[in-house]
Amino acid sequence: MNDQLVAIQADALARIQAASSVDELTAIGQEVLGKRSDLVGLRKQLGGLDEATRKAAGEALNATTQAIKAAMADREGGLAGAERTARYEAERLDLTEVVDPPSVGHLHIVTQTWQALEDIFVGMGYGVAEGPEIETDWYNFEALNIPDSHPARSMWDTLWVDTDDADGHPMLLRTHTSNVQIHVMQAQEPPIYVVAPGRTYRRDTTDATHLPVFHQIEGLVVDKGITMADLAGTIQAFTQAYFGQEFESRLRPSYFPFTEPSAEFDIRPPGGDWLELGGCGMVHPNVFRHVGIDPEEWTGFAFGFGIDRLAKVRYAVDDLREFVTSDVRFLEQF
Ligand code: PHE
Repeated sequence: MNDQLVAIQADALARIQAASSVDELTAIGQEVLGKRSDLVGLRKQLGGLDEATRKAAGEALNATTQAIKAAMADREGGLAGAERTARYEAERLDLTEVVDPPSVGHLHIVTQTWQALEDIFVGMGYGVAEGPEIETDWYNFEALNIPDSHPARSMWDTLWVDTDDADGHPMLLRTHTSNVQIHVMQAQEPPIYVVAPGRTYRRDTTDATHLPVFHQIEGLVVDKGITMADLAGTIQAFTQAYFGQEFESRLRPSYFPFTEPSAEFDIRPPGGDWLELGGCGMVHPNVFRHVGIDPEEWTGFAFGFGIDRLAKVRYAVDDLREFVTSDVRFLEQF
């Protein structure tokens, strides 16, 4: 019986060692230690042996059984650990891996246009100025030669603010960037060459060509001997710098209370139609008087136009509302 036990143990240990999964090991256990195993068969033979032999054989049988069970337990521990490791590996999330590069945003098309315009005028020697968006009636209208009850006030549908300034003047959201002309002339002596881009507000109903909140860029030049020809030349130089050499510009007679004479300026692409861009003119003497500049000594011109409208023309955008609805499919085109 001893020889049989040695063979059974050797065979069992070899198979246990070769098992490649916990399931396979369990099946081997059934065959080697289960009811129909050779070991159980041998145990049944014990009864027919004499007492001394039976005791020795019983001990040998138990030793073999224990050895096989120990090998099983050992192998099971190893296999379970390996299977766990494999499962963890398979389920692992690699948080360091970047599959798609993250998308990077960019400046809004109106901001890009604003900056391009600033660059052009800075290149022509202008400084950049800013002024308040919440403004007094005086800066937005009075100082610009638009007294209270002047019919020209209806040119700007005004959004009034529910508070007065410290001196009891009614306040409003500026209807144009022309208020900055006044602030600049109060703050610095001529000669003055500045542009003032910024946000402006009007009580307009939103549609494809109007936004109640929009952007303008103002230009102001005050120097000795400035004439309408300087204004026309400046508009032409700007038009070509921004739109291209082949574009033309023209001035058309118009009316603004703060300029005299006043004009509307239009641009035309080669072979295209004239497009109205903004207003301009020679600074009215009354405006100079309001800020203490002598109109006998100094002359100047001013212009103002819509930045959004300019971007609309330049990029052939159909509807101004596209600029404010934050649709990424629109914005990422520019
Ligand atoms: N402020 C005027 C407007 O918004 C434009 C303008 C500016 C006209 C400067 C003349 C001079 O309509």
